[in-house]
Amino acid sequence: MTTTKNNETTILVTGASGTVGSEVVKQLTSPSSLSSDSRIRAAIRSKNKADKLRNENKKVEIVNMDYDKQETIVDVLNGVDKLFLLTLPTPNMTEIASSLIKEAKKNDVKHIVKLSVIDADAEPGIMITRLHRQEEKIIEESGIPYTFLRAGAFMQNFINFFGQTIKTQNAIYIPAGDGKVSFVDVRDIAAVATEILSAKNNGTKSKQQYENKKYDITGNEAISYSQSAEILSNILGRRISYVNISEEDSRKAMKNTGMEDWLVDALMEIYNIIRFGYASQTTATIEQITRRKPITFEQFVRDYASFFN
Ligand SMILES: NC(=O)c1ccc[n+]([C@@H]2O[C@H](COP(=O)([O-])OP(=O)(O)OC[C@H]3O[C@@H](n4cnc5c(N)ncnc54)[C@H](OP(=O)(O)O)[C@@H]3O)[C@@H](O)[C@H]2O)c1
Repeated sequence: MTTTKNNETTILVTGASGTVGSEVVKQLTSPSSLSSDSRIRAAIRSKNKADKLRNENKKVEIVNMDYDKQETIVDVLNGVDKLFLLTLPTPNMTEIASSLIKEAKKNDVKHIVKLSVIDADAEPGIMITRLHRQEEKIIEESGIPYTFLRAGAFMQNFINFFGQTIKTQNAIYIPAGDGKVSFVDVRDIAAVATEILSAKNNGTKSKQQYENKKYDITGNEAISYSQSAEILSNILGRRISYVNISEEDSRKAMKNTGMEDWLVDALMEIYNIIRFGYASQTTATIEQITRRKPITFEQFVRDYASFFN
C-alpha cells in the first residue's frame, strides 16, 4: 500500500467495481475534479475486476478489499482521509459496517460519505431501509463527520435487473402496478458524491457545509413502469412492454434464478412501496449540489441504448 504524504488527501472508494462506485471513481479522477493533492484509492474485491480498472484508469490506486476478510479492511483503511462507503443490504451489513467504522475511527478518517437509501429513517420502514438506517446510526455514533446520500431507485436497474428481458423478450416483468418512481441516474449520484468528497475547507466548495447532512436524491420527475416502457419503445424503436405480474409469479421467477428468500422478501417490500405510490417523491438535491439539472429517463435510455439491443 502506498503511504500518503502529509499534505495529500487520500479518498477511498468502496464497491469501486459496482454500478455506483465505478462512476464515483471515474468522476473523482476526471481532470475537473482531481486536484494535485488528492489521491484516489479504489477498493475492489475480485482480482479480474481490479486488473480491468488498473488498465482503464492509471490515476487510481487499486487495493483489494473483501468485507468478509477483516485483514483486508485494516489494510485498505490505512492512511485514508475520506471514505465513500458502499455496502450491500445483506443480513450481515451491520457487522460489516461496525468493523469498517471502527477501523475508520482508528485511522482518523475525517469524513464518510455513505450511499444510503431514500426513506432510510421511515418507521417502521422495510428491511432495506432499516439495514441502511442501522449502518447510518453506527456512523453517527462514531463521531466521524458524515454525509448520507439517500438515493431513490436507480435508472441503471433497467440494465442490471430488467436488461435481459428487455433484450430477449422486449418486456419488463414486475409487480409494481401503476406506481410512479422518481428514478435517478447513478451518474448524478456519483456527481453529488464527487462534489462533496472533493470539497475542501477553503474556497467556494466548503467541506463543512456537507458535514452531518442527509440528502434525499431523486430524479426530477416520477414515472410509472408503463411510461418507462413507452419511453424505451420510442427511443429504441421497437415495442417494449411492461407486464404487471402477480406477486406470486414474481416470487417464483426470482426463486428460479436462485435468489435467497430474504432477498426475494426484501424486493417484494420495495414493489409494494412502489405500487402504493410511496416512491414518487422528488427532491432538488442534484441541482442544489451539482448546479445542473438531473439526467432525465429519456437521456438515460439514449446514453445506454446499446445495452438494450
Ligand atoms: N438499486 C437501486 O435502485 C438502489 C437505490 C438506492 C440505494 N441503493 C443502494 O445501493 C447499493 C448498491 O450499489 P450498486 O448498485 O453500485 O451495487 P453493485 O453494482 O451490486 O456493486 C456492489 C459493489 O460492492 C462490492 N462488494 C460486494 N460484496 C462485497 C464484499 N463482501 N466485500 C467487498 N466488496 C463487496 C462489489 O464487488 P464485486 O464486483 O467484486 O462483487 C461491487 O463493487 C446498496 O447499498 C443499495 O441498497 C440501491
